[in-house]
Amino acid sequence: MRFVSHFFATTYISATRSKTLLPVSASLRLLSSAVFATSIPLPMAASEESLRLALTEKQAAVDAQADAVRNLKARSGTPQAEIEAAVDALNNLKLEAGAAARRLQAALSSNGGSAAGSREAFRQAVVNTLERRLFYIPSFKIYRGVAGLYDYGPPGCAVKSNVLAFWRQHFVLEENMLEVDCPCVTPEIVLKASGHVDKFTDLMVKDEKTGMCYRADHLLKDFCKEKLEKDLTLSSEKVTEFKHVIAVLDDLSAEQLGAKLKEYGITAPDTKNPLSDPYPFNLMFQTSIGPSGLSPGFMRPETAQGIFVNFKDLYYYNGKKLPFAAAQIGQAFRNEISPRQGLLRVREFTLAEIEHFVDPDDKSHPKFSDVAELEFLMFPRGEQLAGKSASPMILGKAVSKGIVNNETLGYFIGRVYLFLTHLGIDKDRLRFRQHLPNEMAHYAADCWDAEIECSYGWIECVGIADRSAYDLQAHSEKSGIPLIAHEIFSEAREVEKLVIVPSKKELGLEFKGDQKMVVEALEAMNEKEAMDMKTTLESKGEVDFHVCTLGKTVSIKKNMISIGLEKKKEHQRVFTPSVIEPSFGIGRIIYCLFEHSFYTRPSKAEDEQLNVFSFPPLVAPIKCTVLPLVKIQKFDDVAKVIAKSLTAAGISHIMDTTGTSIGKRYARTDEIGVPFAITVDSTTSITIRERDSKQQIRVSIDEAALVMKEIIDGQSTWGDMVWRYPTHSATHAEDELME
Ligand code: ATP
Ligand code: GLY
Repeated sequence: MRFVSHFFATTYISATRSKTLLPVSASLRLLSSAVFATSIPLPMAASEESLRLALTEKQAAVDAQADAVRNLKARSGTPQAEIEAAVDALNNLKLEAGAAARRLQAALSSNGGSAAGSREAFRQAVVNTLERRLFYIPSFKIYRGVAGLYDYGPPGCAVKSNVLAFWRQHFVLEENMLEVDCPCVTPEIVLKASGHVDKFTDLMVKDEKTGMCYRADHLLKDFCKEKLEKDLTLSSEKVTEFKHVIAVLDDLSAEQLGAKLKEYGITAPDTKNPLSDPYPFNLMFQTSIGPSGLSPGFMRPETAQGIFVNFKDLYYYNGKKLPFAAAQIGQAFRNEISPRQGLLRVREFTLAEIEHFVDPDDKSHPKFSDVAELEFLMFPRGEQLAGKSASPMILGKAVSKGIVNNETLGYFIGRVYLFLTHLGIDKDRLRFRQHLPNEMAHYAADCWDAEIECSYGWIECVGIADRSAYDLQAHSEKSGIPLIAHEIFSEAREVEKLVIVPSKKELGLEFKGDQKMVVEALEAMNEKEAMDMKTTLESKGEVDFHVCTLGKTVSIKKNMISIGLEKKKEHQRVFTPSVIEPSFGIGRIIYCLFEHSFYTRPSKAEDEQLNVFSFPPLVAPIKCTVLPLVKIQKFDDVAKVIAKSLTAAGISHIMDTTGTSIGKRYARTDEIGVPFAITVDSTTSITIRERDSKQQIRVSIDEAALVMKEIIDGQSTWGDMVWRYPTHSATHAEDELME
């Protein structure tokens, strides 16, 4: 979280310093080992060469088996069962070849791939397909667009709405969360209380001649990374230095950043002109509410504040019971200085946020056992600092060993893992990385980011933070409305309460106009301070007392104050709840999903690669395409009947009645990730083709929509259907074009 890294991180360092008296250089040295966090590769994947070899072998096996099937079919009198077994074997081999192709593609697109070039080529192929098929469109394109603003086109919109529907089902429904929908336009006072008005900044530099703006830390990071990657003559001291700079980037002040830019002679990337000194730029879009211009507001940079300010009402709505969670999906706005990385860093994006309010003294979770057995890549702070890689860990163990701070945080980490992998994120390219001390807010108990690896590297897509009571306290103070919870005791409990009674008369005589400040300071003492004062007053009759608001030390006499502990019966405990916040960047998740789902397969007829998005039915923009095999009236009529039954079953579909060859039409729907194609090749039955295996089954017209519904609702798998229905070998049209 940027807010954290530029404001509270600094607070954390200084807080650490004031407690332990570490000089800045020592705390930075301590952090220098954090360098590995930014440069850790995936656990070594199989080499590109071995993956290529595996693919060639699988393809050869597919070719041989296809020959065998042809021969069997050509030989008269071959028993049908024998042909079917051979076709089954062929289909299985095709599945294996598809998986091998995807593994190779993944290796090429990741750090394990041979070079940045192949990652970029892969990304280009994905992005070209996404833009050509209108998954997304640069906004206002006919006016040459605006950096960092994108539209979702029809298939992109459908994917997004499927992801959000699943999010609601997986989180809101499952946990009975209270969903709210708050405005994007937010009055200044709210964001002043949260700290955003003063501190939601990035450091910016300007090209001194053209006025072009850049993020100062990005320029420094890019410079260091390029040196590390490309300059083979670097001395080991320089390697250490550049790694160190990357590690402490978040902690550098404007002056330190400026000094480094100067030291390395970094200039504006586009023009090579000199740069200004770095200065903070607030990322919020400012506006004013109403026509007078007197009521300043901002477009919200996150949805969370809308939930915090509603805490009191939501707590009552929930029957004054904790824990409970509120959720919100909505647009967030950040005026990014120099948006880059396509959909990953944009100026307006959809956030889905959960604020789970919990008693700070009890962060257990009743459903933790549901996720405790999950095992996935985790990257705790200790491993990062030791220069190790992320490794598989069992979530229950990570919580019981204290690596993850508490069960509720652990529960959400597990649920986020399930959410992302259900969507189709590759579990081997998903890790949960714990924040390093320099990234964490001083108030935060623990934070983990779900990071997904794509062609841009490891990208934070979901932040899961235990933010303690910070936000509710900040809004309580600013608004004067207590945002608190109560624990009602079943039996009254006896407690000792500190009672401080300053004698206003004596204090007034002594301190005159300063009396009020002295009284306030005395009343603000904690138990230890007060009891120490009492002891000193009893032994010496007076005590020195520092009043911060006056900036001086005064002498307090015995007759000016009475301090004691009183026994009291209490019927309830009043406290500010802690909040655990999973925050999902929906656009980032979707982009990573696009990359993880994309692969190409060769087309035999033409010397080209066919693009496929292997979306699971859950997220596929359209669930099936209906295609009459040839353009004749009776097939068109059947197609219409099928389309009607699909609509009745609530299954999104498209019809492709163009006269193009069936192979080309399959390729067209594969390219937008439609998982199933229903081909009308008779008036009594149809074939259903699965996108990745290209396997087909024959089903009667009446059953077509039911079969689709069963698979799409997740009651049956494609594999189940292959058992249930006869398989169908592709006609020669598809053989020719697709194999
Ligand atoms: P970053 O450091 O990458 O800018 P952040 O730490 O500022 O991100 P948070 O404030 O934690 O991000 O926001 C929560 C989530 O919002 C992030 O996990 C990310 O998925 C998403 N997000 C943040 N900024 C952007 C952006 N400019 N474009 C798209 N998604 C974003
Ligand atoms: N089911 C028709 C074809 O694949 O050719």
